[in-house]
This record gives sequence, C-alpha cells and structure tokens, in this order.
Amino acid sequence: MTGRTTLTIVLAAGEGTRMRSKTPKVLHPVAGQSLLAHVLGAAPKENSAALAVVIAPDHEAVAEEARRARRDAAIFVQRERLGTAHAVLAARDAIARGADDLLIVFGDTPLISAATFERLRAPLKSGAALAVLGFRAADPTGYGRLLVEGDRLIAIREQADASPAERAITLCNAGVMALDGRKALDIIDKIGNANSKREYYLTDAVAIVRNLGLEAVVIETSEDEVRGINTKAQLAEAEQVMQTRLRKAALEAGVTMVAPETVFLTADTKFGKDVTIEPFVVIGPGVSISDGAVIHSFSHIVQSSIGKNTSVGPYARLRPGTSLGEGARIGNFVETKAATLEAGVKVNHLSYVGDAHVGANANIGAGTITCNYDGFAKHKTEIGAGAFVGTNSSLVAPVKIGSGAYIGSGSVITRDVPDDAMALERSQQTNREGGAKRYREMKTRGKAPKGG
Ligand code: UD1
Ligand code: CA
Repeated sequence: MTGRTTLTIVLAAGEGTRMRSKTPKVLHPVAGQSLLAHVLGAAPKENSAALAVVIAPDHEAVAEEARRARRDAAIFVQRERLGTAHAVLAARDAIARGADDLLIVFGDTPLISAATFERLRAPLKSGAALAVLGFRAADPTGYGRLLVEGDRLIAIREQADASPAERAITLCNAGVMALDGRKALDIIDKIGNANSKREYYLTDAVAIVRNLGLEAVVIETSEDEVRGINTKAQLAEAEQVMQTRLRKAALEAGVTMVAPETVFLTADTKFGKDVTIEPFVVIGPGVSISDGAVIHSFSHIVQSSIGKNTSVGPYARLRPGTSLGEGARIGNFVETKAATLEAGVKVNHLSYVGDAHVGANANIGAGTITCNYDGFAKHKTEIGAGAFVGTNSSLVAPVKIGSGAYIGSGSVITRDVPDDAMALERSQQTNREGGAKRYREMKTRGKAPKGG
C-alpha cells in the first residue's frame, strides 16, 4: 500500500491477571518471542509507517521490549485503566499527526498476520471511515458482537450490554480496527462511558461513524488468527498454532523432518538448503542452520550459528554464542557456550566447551572440560588449529593450547602449551598446585567464590 502513511497503535496496558504471573501479559513468549514482538512484527513497517505502544504505568519492561522489537516504537503510558478508547487516546499526540490510516490492535493477539493488516487498510483507501476485523466465534461468549445490516456494520455490542438476541450472534469483534487517520481523533473523542462497565469502549466508534453519515465495514478472518491470550491455557494453544505454522514453513523451505510435530522452532529460526532435523529437537531464539546440517534427536539449541554440513547431537546442548564452522561435529552429551568451533572441529562425546575458541580441525576427546569458571570470573580457553586434546582433560582457563599441540589423556592444564608441544602427565601435579594456590590467594583477598 504505497503512498499512504500509517500509524499502528498497540494496546498493551493490560494487567493480565488471569496469567497468574509477575510478568506483564504481553511479555509471555510464543515460539520464543513475546506476544508483543509478534504483533509488532506483523504491523506495517514501511518507511511511512509509525508505531505507538500504550503501556501501564509500572511496565518499563514492556516499553523496553517494544523498543527492542521496533526501534521506532513511541511509548505512551495510560495512567488509569478506563477502557480501550481511553487507552487509544493515551497516544493522542501520535494520532494528531494525522496518518492516512490508523490501525489499532491489542498486544495479546500474537497470531495476527501482516496480510490481515493490509486487508483492513484497503476499505479506507476506497472511502470507508472504519474497518473492523471480525471472525465467526465457535463460542462468542465474552466478545463484542458485530451488528450488521447486509454488508454494512451498524454497531458493536459488548457482551455485558448485549440483549439475549444479540448474544446469539456469532460474528465477533477481533479487536483490530482501521480508522481514517484524519477523522480518528474526532471520532474517538466522542466516545462516552454510558455502559454497564463505565468504560470508554473503542467499539462505540462504529455507532459514531454511522451517526456522522460515514461508512463502517467488516473484514472477516479465521478465529485462529485473532486468538487473544488471557490464560496460560490460551498461551499453550497459541503456541500450537504458531508451531504448526513454523513447521509448515520450514518443510516448504526444504527442511527434512520426519516427525515435524516433535520439533519446536522459533519465529526467527533460519534454515539453509537440505537441512535435516531429527525428531525431538528444540530450537530457541537466534538460531541459523546452514546448508546440509543435520541436527540429531534430543538436541537443544539457542542463539547459535550452525555451519554447513555440520552434525549436531544426538543429545547436544548448544547455548548462546555457539558458532560452528563447516563440517564441525558435535556429538552426544556435549555442551557449548560462547564458543567458536572452526571448520572440521570434532567434539564427539561428553564435553563442555565454554568461553572458547577452537581452531580448525582440532580434536577434543571425550570428557574434556574447559574449566572457564574459577569461582570468581569466567576465563577464556584457546585451542589452536589441529590440536589434539586427549580424553578426560581439564583445561583450566585462562589457558592457551598451541596449534598442533598434544594433550595427554587425563591432563589438568593450567599453563599455556606452545604450538606442537606435548603436555603430558608429569606436569600435572604442579599445575594443580598452581590452580589451588591462585584460588587461595583470591580468597584471602576477600573475594568469596560465587556458586556456579
Ligand atoms: C475487547 C473488545 C471486544 C472484542 C474483544 C476481542 C472493547 C470495548 N471490547 O473486549 O469487542 O471482542 O476485545 O478480544 O474494545 N486495554 C488497555 N487499557 C484499558 C483497557 C484495555 O490497554 O483501559 C487493552 C488490554 O490490555 C487488552 C485490550 O486493550 O489488550 C482489550 O481489553 P480487554 O479488557 O481485554 O477487552 P475485552 O473485554 O476482551
Ligand atoms: Ca481480552
């Protein structure tokens, strides 16, 4: 929709009491992203698109999340919770700038799509003052009912104010609307609170538009797309809908999954060509998987970049900051964190590689641990290209293993090992004493070790 400016207002001032959580409702995640981030991601984002988020007074975390998801988000605070129309007017300054199209959406409907926002804007272009998103509810209880005559929208009646006949209507208000941005303030300012809840209902905009002799229309969508989240059960339902969508998109993009229903993805997961994901894999936020990679069963991956033709798992845990080069192999019961493993590195069994850089083609034997934490701080381990670390070795960071170096099985390494050198058992006793001495020194300086 080129040429028309737009302002999207996201209402996120809700308490979310029924979530029974200290976390504000819109910060709960679906497919690894907050409800709010999903809505902001679907809202128009071309250059002429402005965005406002209305939050509750003590919800700075919601403002932060909004700015994280959309750097251009303007934040407005609704001081008192007097209804949806009152919430919209908290963003009065943004509305007063007069965008062509004003879109209003609730922050707790994470399944809404960008295409639906565009469909709602279309009637405004052809002269309507208001377009409301409607859906046929399996159970309409609690929703505002859409009163229509032919294809004209006459009014929206909230549940509490509806007659028994009106309550039988199943065409409901999804809570998303598009208003003529230049008339919007006039219209919303006319909304009163003469109803059973004494709230300023945004839905009264429909009757006002009609009284002004302007046109209001309904655009229909599926119930799945406009599911509002009020409870943890509804959060889980939305997760299911979203996972189904993400799995379908991954399969369409060429990912092989023999049991897609057991694979959990995140909205931002990126796949190359010919990726295979075996059953029971969980992929959290910030993961990209390159061409030809195979993720074996029961692996858990978060904020990691997985190179071409790599093999991960089964039973691998890749934590934030993991980067695997081409052809690297991570085997069973291996954990990585803040670790770059260059091309061809093998860590095939039972190891922890954290705060580490491992050069190309190095081989890390079973049971190797980078001891990155000394009770006070985290330290880095560097392992050079082509190094061989024997099984059951402890690399006490900070430490550097030279390229091509050989570490004998069962070694405890506390001092740097030069390139191509051999570190064998003889040095171990002194190495261990060195570590213990350093620990005692720090303790006597009054630094108590933290857990972890
Ligand atoms: C609203 C609609 C109803 C629709 C339903 C769809 C109104 C009056 N009713 O009802 O027609 O069928 O959504 O789910 O609009 N909010 C604020 N500040 C307020 C009040 C609400 O920010 O003062 C936010 C809430 O956080 C929430 C949204 O607006 O995200 C909707 O408010 P809620 O009270 O849940 O409205 P419903 O009764 O569900
Ligand atoms: Ca609601």
